[in-house]
Amino acid sequence: MKILAIETSCDETAVAVLEIKQGYLKVISNVVASSVKLQAKYGGIVPEVAARKQVEYIIPVVEKATAEISLKSIDYIAVTVGPGLITSLRVGVQAAKALAYSLNKSLVAINHMEGHIYSALFTKQGINRKLSNQNKKDKKFWNIKGINFPALALLVSGGHTQLVLVKDYLAYKVIGETKDDAVGEAFDKVAKILNLGYPGGPIIAKRASQGNQQAIEMPRPMLNSQDYNFSFSGIKTSVLYRVKKQQNLLKNKIHINNMCASFEKACVDVLVAKTMRAVADFKIKTVLLGGGVAANKNLRDSLSKAIDKYHHQNNKKIELLLPEISLTGDNALMIALAAYWRIKNNKAKHFKKIDVKVNIEL
Ligand code: KG4
Ligand code: ZN
Repeated sequence: MKILAIETSCDETAVAVLEIKQGYLKVISNVVASSVKLQAKYGGIVPEVAARKQVEYIIPVVEKATAEISLKSIDYIAVTVGPGLITSLRVGVQAAKALAYSLNKSLVAINHMEGHIYSALFTKQGINRKLSNQNKKDKKFWNIKGINFPALALLVSGGHTQLVLVKDYLAYKVIGETKDDAVGEAFDKVAKILNLGYPGGPIIAKRASQGNQQAIEMPRPMLNSQDYNFSFSGIKTSVLYRVKKQQNLLKNKIHINNMCASFEKACVDVLVAKTMRAVADFKIKTVLLGGGVAANKNLRDSLSKAIDKYHHQNNKKIELLLPEISLTGDNALMIALAAYWRIKNNKAKHFKKIDVKVNIEL
Protein backbone atom coordinates (compact mmCIF):
# COMPACT_ATOMS: atom_id res chain seq x y z
CA MET A 1 0.00 0.00 0.00
CA LYS A 2 1.33 3.46 -0.93
CA ILE A 3 0.17 6.58 0.91
CA LEU A 4 0.86 10.09 -0.32
CA ALA A 5 0.54 12.61 2.53
CA ILE A 6 0.34 16.39 2.48
CA GLU A 7 0.99 18.72 5.43
CA THR A 8 0.52 22.49 5.11
CA SER A 9 -0.79 23.56 8.53
CA CYS A 10 1.63 26.43 9.09
CA ASP A 11 4.79 27.57 7.29
CA GLU A 12 6.01 24.20 6.00
CA THR A 13 4.83 22.70 2.71
CA ALA A 14 5.47 18.99 3.13
CA VAL A 15 4.71 15.95 1.00
CA ALA A 16 5.77 12.36 1.67
CA VAL A 17 5.15 8.98 0.11
CA LEU A 18 5.19 5.97 2.43
CA GLU A 19 4.90 2.37 1.30
CA ILE A 20 3.71 -0.35 3.65
CA LYS A 21 4.80 -3.83 2.65
CA GLN A 22 4.34 -6.93 4.76
CA GLY A 23 4.71 -5.09 8.04
CA TYR A 24 7.58 -2.90 6.85
CA LEU A 25 7.42 0.75 6.12
CA LYS A 26 9.46 2.16 3.30
CA VAL A 27 9.99 5.89 3.03
CA ILE A 28 9.83 6.61 -0.68
CA SER A 29 10.09 10.37 -0.27
CA ASN A 30 9.88 13.01 2.43
CA VAL A 31 10.06 16.56 1.08
CA VAL A 32 9.72 19.74 3.14
CA ALA A 33 9.84 23.33 1.86
CA SER A 34 9.65 26.07 4.45
CA SER A 35 9.02 29.80 4.50
CA VAL A 36 10.62 30.11 7.95
CA LYS A 37 13.53 32.23 6.68
CA LEU A 38 11.09 34.70 5.22
CA GLN A 39 9.03 34.70 8.43
CA ALA A 40 12.23 35.46 10.38
CA LYS A 41 12.30 38.89 8.71
CA TYR A 42 8.99 39.69 10.40
CA GLY A 43 9.99 38.19 13.76
CA GLY A 44 7.25 35.58 13.64
CA ILE A 45 4.70 33.93 11.40
CA VAL A 46 2.59 36.20 9.22
CA PRO A 47 -0.34 34.02 8.06
CA GLU A 48 -0.69 35.82 4.72
CA VAL A 49 3.01 35.30 3.92
CA ALA A 50 2.78 31.62 4.97
CA ALA A 51 -0.27 31.07 2.73
CA ARG A 52 1.33 32.72 -0.31
CA LYS A 53 4.36 30.49 0.04
CA GLN A 54 2.16 27.41 0.44
CA VAL A 55 0.52 28.21 -2.91
CA GLU A 56 3.91 28.73 -4.53
CA TYR A 57 5.49 25.55 -3.14
CA ILE A 58 2.71 22.96 -3.21
CA ILE A 59 2.99 21.76 -6.81
CA PRO A 60 6.81 21.65 -6.96
CA VAL A 61 6.88 19.77 -3.64
CA VAL A 62 4.28 17.23 -4.82
CA GLU A 63 6.31 16.80 -8.03
CA LYS A 64 9.55 16.28 -6.14
CA ALA A 65 8.01 13.78 -3.72
CA THR A 66 6.53 11.74 -6.57
CA ALA A 67 9.43 12.07 -9.02
CA GLU A 68 10.38 8.39 -8.76
CA ILE A 69 6.95 6.81 -8.72
CA SER A 70 3.92 6.79 -10.93
CA LEU A 71 1.04 8.75 -9.42
CA LYS A 72 -1.22 5.89 -10.43
CA SER A 73 0.58 3.56 -8.02
CA ILE A 74 -0.66 5.59 -5.02
CA ASP A 75 -3.46 3.91 -3.08
CA TYR A 76 -4.50 6.63 -0.63
CA ILE A 77 -4.05 10.38 -0.19
CA ALA A 78 -3.73 11.73 3.37
CA VAL A 79 -3.88 15.36 4.43
CA THR A 80 -3.66 17.49 7.57
CA VAL A 81 -7.08 19.14 8.04
CA GLY A 82 -6.20 21.04 11.25
CA PRO A 83 -5.35 22.52 13.68
CA GLY A 84 -3.42 25.30 12.00
CA LEU A 85 -3.70 28.47 9.94
CA ILE A 86 -6.83 28.34 7.80
CA THR A 87 -5.30 29.75 4.63
CA SER A 88 -2.28 27.45 4.85
CA LEU A 89 -4.42 24.39 5.58
CA ARG A 90 -6.68 25.14 2.61
CA VAL A 91 -3.78 24.87 0.16
CA GLY A 92 -2.93 21.33 1.29
CA VAL A 93 -6.52 20.18 1.54
CA GLN A 94 -7.40 21.50 -1.93
CA ALA A 95 -4.32 19.88 -3.43
CA ALA A 96 -5.18 16.58 -1.71
CA LYS A 97 -8.75 16.75 -2.96
CA ALA A 98 -7.63 17.47 -6.51
CA LEU A 99 -5.27 14.48 -6.40
CA ALA A 100 -7.91 12.21 -4.89
CA TYR A 101 -10.40 13.30 -7.56
CA SER A 102 -8.04 12.90 -10.49
CA LEU A 103 -6.63 9.57 -9.29
CA ASN A 104 -10.01 8.33 -8.06
CA LYS A 105 -8.64 7.47 -4.61
CA SER A 106 -9.95 7.85 -1.07
CA LEU A 107 -8.78 10.64 1.19
CA VAL A 108 -7.72 10.35 4.84
CA ALA A 109 -8.15 13.38 7.15
CA ILE A 110 -5.41 13.72 9.77
CA ASN A 111 -5.11 15.87 12.86
CA HIS A 112 -1.72 17.61 12.86
CA MET A 113 -1.13 16.68 16.52
CA GLU A 114 -1.94 13.05 15.77
CA GLY A 115 0.86 13.22 13.22
CA HIS A 116 3.30 14.50 15.85
CA ILE A 117 2.40 11.52 18.07
CA TYR A 118 3.41 9.04 15.34
CA SER A 119 6.59 10.93 14.43
CA ALA A 120 8.11 9.30 17.53
CA LEU A 121 7.85 5.88 15.89
CA PHE A 122 10.50 6.83 13.37
CA THR A 123 13.34 6.24 15.76
CA LYS A 124 16.41 4.09 15.40
CA GLN A 125 16.72 3.68 19.16
CA GLY A 126 13.25 2.23 19.68
CA ILE A 127 13.41 -1.29 21.11
CA ASN A 128 10.90 -2.65 18.64
CA ARG A 129 12.28 -0.85 15.71
CA LYS A 130 15.21 -3.03 14.70
CA LEU A 131 15.59 -3.55 10.99
CA SER A 132 15.22 -7.08 9.76
CA ASN A 133 18.31 -8.72 8.26
CA GLN A 134 17.07 -8.46 4.72
CA ASN A 135 16.51 -4.72 4.99
CA LYS A 136 19.48 -3.79 7.16
CA LYS A 137 21.34 -2.05 4.38
CA ASP A 138 18.38 -0.12 3.11
CA LYS A 139 17.86 2.83 5.44
CA LYS A 140 14.51 3.52 3.86
CA PHE A 141 12.96 0.53 5.59
CA TRP A 142 11.49 0.56 9.09
CA ASN A 143 10.04 -2.32 11.02
CA ILE A 144 7.35 -0.81 13.15
CA LYS A 145 6.09 -3.47 15.51
CA GLY A 146 3.77 -1.26 17.45
CA ILE A 147 3.23 0.74 20.60
CA ASN A 148 2.74 -0.84 24.02
CA PHE A 149 -0.44 0.70 25.42
CA PRO A 150 -1.37 2.63 27.46
CA ALA A 151 0.99 5.20 26.00
CA LEU A 152 1.48 8.85 26.82
CA ALA A 153 2.42 11.50 24.27
CA LEU A 154 4.07 14.74 25.30
CA LEU A 155 3.38 17.10 22.40
CA VAL A 156 5.42 20.27 22.39
CA SER A 157 5.18 22.65 19.45
CA GLY A 158 4.81 26.32 18.59
CA GLY A 159 1.04 26.18 18.93
CA HIS A 160 0.43 23.36 21.43
CA THR A 161 1.65 21.83 24.65
CA GLN A 162 -0.34 18.74 25.51
CA LEU A 163 -0.18 15.50 27.42
CA VAL A 164 -2.20 12.91 25.55
CA LEU A 165 -3.21 9.54 26.91
CA VAL A 166 -3.06 7.12 23.98
CA LYS A 167 -5.12 4.07 24.84
CA ASP A 168 -4.95 2.60 21.37
CA TYR A 169 -3.94 3.66 17.88
CA LEU A 170 -6.85 6.00 17.33
CA ALA A 171 -7.98 6.48 20.93
CA TYR A 172 -6.62 9.72 22.31
CA LYS A 173 -7.55 11.70 25.40
CA VAL A 174 -5.96 15.06 26.15
CA ILE A 175 -5.33 14.92 29.90
CA GLY A 176 -3.38 18.15 30.20
CA GLU A 177 -2.48 21.26 28.24
CA THR A 178 -1.08 24.73 28.58
CA LYS A 179 -3.29 27.37 30.13
CA ASP A 180 -1.49 30.17 28.25
CA ASP A 181 1.52 30.09 25.89
CA ALA A 182 2.63 26.90 24.17
CA VAL A 183 6.18 26.04 25.16
CA GLY A 184 7.56 26.67 21.64
CA GLU A 185 5.76 30.01 21.62
CA ALA A 186 7.44 30.90 24.94
CA PHE A 187 10.85 30.04 23.42
CA ASP A 188 10.04 32.22 20.41
CA LYS A 189 8.86 35.15 22.55
CA VAL A 190 11.83 34.97 24.92
CA ALA A 191 14.19 34.99 21.92
CA LYS A 192 12.40 38.14 20.73
CA ILE A 193 12.78 39.78 24.17
CA LEU A 194 16.49 38.95 24.11
CA ASN A 195 16.89 40.16 20.48
CA LEU A 196 18.05 36.74 19.34
CA GLY A 197 15.91 36.27 16.22
CA TYR A 198 13.28 33.80 15.01
CA PRO A 199 12.49 30.92 15.47
CA GLY A 200 13.59 31.13 19.08
CA GLY A 201 13.78 27.45 20.03
CA PRO A 202 17.00 26.45 18.26
CA ILE A 203 18.71 29.78 19.07
CA ILE A 204 17.84 29.63 22.78
CA ALA A 205 18.89 25.97 22.95
CA LYS A 206 22.28 26.86 21.44
CA ARG A 207 22.87 29.78 23.80
CA ALA A 208 21.59 27.71 26.74
CA SER A 209 24.23 25.06 26.07
CA GLN A 210 26.86 27.73 26.78
CA GLY A 211 25.18 29.08 29.92
CA ASN A 212 24.60 28.18 33.55
CA GLN A 213 21.16 26.75 34.34
CA GLN A 214 21.38 27.83 37.97
CA ALA A 215 22.52 31.40 37.33
CA ILE A 216 19.13 33.08 37.29
CA GLU A 217 16.17 32.10 39.39
CA MET A 218 13.08 31.30 37.32
CA PRO A 219 9.56 30.34 38.40
CA ARG A 220 8.19 26.87 37.66
CA PRO A 221 4.47 27.61 37.27
CA MET A 222 2.02 24.83 38.17
CA LEU A 223 4.86 22.45 39.00
CA ASN A 224 2.99 21.13 42.01
CA SER A 225 -0.60 21.57 40.82
CA GLN A 226 -2.49 18.31 41.15
CA ASP A 227 -3.17 18.00 37.42
CA TYR A 228 -1.37 17.59 34.12
CA ASN A 229 -1.67 21.18 32.90
CA PHE A 230 1.09 23.66 32.14
CA SER A 231 1.71 27.40 32.15
CA PHE A 232 4.68 29.05 30.45
CA SER A 233 3.82 32.73 30.21
CA GLY A 234 5.07 33.36 33.80
CA ILE A 235 8.54 32.05 32.92
CA LYS A 236 8.57 34.26 29.82
CA THR A 237 7.41 37.29 31.85
CA SER A 238 10.14 36.67 34.39
CA VAL A 239 12.70 37.08 31.57
CA LEU A 240 10.89 40.22 30.35
CA TYR A 241 10.95 41.90 33.80
CA ARG A 242 14.62 41.23 34.28
CA VAL A 243 15.43 42.72 30.88
CA LYS A 244 13.22 45.76 31.54
CA LYS A 245 14.96 46.39 34.83
CA GLN A 246 18.46 46.18 33.38
CA GLN A 247 18.51 46.90 29.62
CA ASN A 248 22.31 46.93 29.55
CA LEU A 249 22.32 43.22 30.40
CA LEU A 250 21.27 42.56 26.79
CA LYS A 251 24.80 43.50 25.74
CA ASN A 252 26.34 40.93 28.06
CA LYS A 253 26.84 37.65 26.18
CA ILE A 254 27.42 35.58 29.30
CA HIS A 255 24.32 36.96 30.92
CA ILE A 256 22.21 36.14 27.85
CA ASN A 257 23.57 32.59 27.80
CA ASN A 258 22.71 32.21 31.49
CA MET A 259 19.25 33.63 30.93
CA CYS A 260 18.63 31.15 28.08
CA ALA A 261 19.95 28.21 30.15
CA SER A 262 17.84 29.13 33.20
CA PHE A 263 14.72 29.71 31.10
CA GLU A 264 15.15 26.45 29.21
CA LYS A 265 15.73 24.52 32.44
CA ALA A 266 12.56 25.93 34.03
CA CYS A 267 10.45 24.90 30.99
CA VAL A 268 12.02 21.43 30.83
CA ASP A 269 11.57 20.84 34.57
CA VAL A 270 7.83 21.49 34.36
CA LEU A 271 7.39 19.42 31.19
CA VAL A 272 9.23 16.44 32.66
CA ALA A 273 7.55 16.64 36.08
CA LYS A 274 4.05 16.68 34.61
CA THR A 275 4.88 13.86 32.21
CA MET A 276 6.19 11.69 35.06
CA ARG A 277 3.11 12.44 37.17
CA ALA A 278 0.94 11.10 34.34
CA VAL A 279 3.26 8.11 33.77
CA ALA A 280 2.74 7.04 37.38
CA ASP A 281 -0.99 7.80 37.56
CA PHE A 282 -1.93 6.01 34.32
CA LYS A 283 0.58 3.13 34.55
CA ILE A 284 2.04 4.14 31.23
CA LYS A 285 4.11 1.63 29.22
CA THR A 286 5.34 3.86 26.38
CA VAL A 287 6.15 7.58 26.35
CA LEU A 288 6.24 9.35 22.99
CA LEU A 289 7.66 12.81 22.42
CA GLY A 290 6.58 14.95 19.47
CA GLY A 291 6.51 18.48 18.05
CA GLY A 292 9.12 21.08 17.16
CA VAL A 293 10.38 21.44 20.75
CA ALA A 294 11.12 17.68 20.76
CA ALA A 295 14.37 18.68 19.03
CA ASN A 296 15.49 20.21 22.33
CA LYS A 297 18.44 18.19 23.64
CA ASN A 298 17.94 19.21 27.23
CA LEU A 299 14.31 18.06 27.11
CA ARG A 300 15.25 14.73 25.47
CA ASP A 301 18.02 14.08 28.01
CA SER A 302 15.97 15.10 31.05
CA LEU A 303 13.03 12.96 29.99
CA SER A 304 15.30 9.95 29.40
CA LYS A 305 16.88 10.39 32.84
CA ALA A 306 13.52 10.75 34.58
CA ILE A 307 12.24 7.58 32.91
CA ASP A 308 15.39 5.65 33.86
CA LYS A 309 14.98 6.83 37.45
CA TYR A 310 11.34 5.77 37.48
CA HIS A 311 12.34 2.39 36.12
CA HIS A 312 14.89 1.86 38.91
CA GLN A 313 12.60 3.09 41.67
CA ASN A 314 9.52 1.16 40.60
CA ASN A 315 11.05 -1.75 38.74
CA LYS A 316 8.75 -0.96 35.82
CA LYS A 317 10.13 -0.77 32.34
CA ILE A 318 8.90 2.11 30.24
CA GLU A 319 9.77 2.55 26.61
CA LEU A 320 10.68 6.10 25.59
CA LEU A 321 10.37 6.92 21.91
CA LEU A 322 12.07 10.09 20.75
CA PRO A 323 11.61 11.09 17.11
CA GLU A 324 14.57 11.56 14.83
CA ILE A 325 15.57 15.22 15.00
CA SER A 326 14.76 15.68 11.32
CA LEU A 327 11.16 14.62 12.02
CA THR A 328 10.51 16.82 15.07
CA GLY A 329 9.40 19.78 12.96
CA ASP A 330 6.39 19.68 10.68
CA ASN A 331 6.63 17.00 8.00
CA ALA A 332 4.30 14.80 5.96
CA LEU A 333 5.88 11.46 6.86
CA MET A 334 4.23 11.59 10.28
CA ILE A 335 0.92 12.38 8.56
CA ALA A 336 1.33 9.35 6.29
CA LEU A 337 2.00 7.07 9.26
CA ALA A 338 -1.03 8.40 11.14
CA ALA A 339 -3.05 7.74 7.98
CA TYR A 340 -1.86 4.13 7.91
CA TRP A 341 -3.73 3.35 11.13
CA ARG A 342 -6.77 5.29 10.00
CA ILE A 343 -6.87 3.31 6.73
CA LYS A 344 -6.55 0.06 8.70
CA ASN A 345 -9.61 1.16 10.66
CA ASN A 346 -11.62 2.02 7.54
CA LYS A 347 -11.46 5.77 8.10
CA ALA A 348 -10.57 6.72 4.51
CA LYS A 349 -13.36 8.73 2.86
CA HIS A 350 -14.59 10.11 -0.43
CA PHE A 351 -12.83 13.43 -1.08
CA LYS A 352 -16.10 15.41 -0.94
CA LYS A 353 -16.53 14.44 2.71
CA ILE A 354 -13.26 16.01 3.82
CA ASP A 355 -12.61 19.65 4.61
CA VAL A 356 -10.41 21.95 6.68
CA LYS A 357 -11.13 21.87 10.45
CA VAL A 358 -9.11 24.73 11.86
CA ASN A 359 -9.82 23.96 15.52
CA ILE A 360 -10.02 20.18 15.36
CA GLU A 361 -9.21 18.47 18.67
CA LEU A 362 -7.66 15.09 19.31
O1 KG4 B 1 5.90 21.48 15.49
P1 KG4 B 1 6.50 22.74 14.96
O2 KG4 B 1 7.55 22.63 13.89
O3 KG4 B 1 5.38 23.69 14.42
C1 KG4 B 1 4.15 23.78 15.05
O4 KG4 B 1 3.30 22.88 14.82
O5 KG4 B 1 4.00 24.72 15.86
O6 KG4 B 1 7.12 23.54 16.22
C2 KG4 B 1 7.79 24.77 16.06
C3 KG4 B 1 8.30 25.23 17.41
C4 KG4 B 1 8.83 26.66 17.39
O7 KG4 B 1 8.22 27.38 18.45
C5 KG4 B 1 10.32 26.50 17.61
O8 KG4 B 1 10.92 27.60 18.27
C6 KG4 B 1 10.37 25.25 18.45
O9 KG4 B 1 9.40 24.40 17.86
N1 KG4 B 1 11.70 24.58 18.44
C7 KG4 B 1 12.45 24.38 19.54
C8 KG4 B 1 13.66 23.77 19.11
N2 KG4 B 1 13.57 23.59 17.76
C9 KG4 B 1 12.36 24.11 17.37
N3 KG4 B 1 12.23 24.68 20.83
C10 KG4 B 1 13.19 24.38 21.73
N4 KG4 B 1 14.36 23.81 21.41
C11 KG4 B 1 14.64 23.48 20.12
N5 KG4 B 1 15.82 22.89 19.81
ZN1 ZN C 1 3.67 20.93 14.38
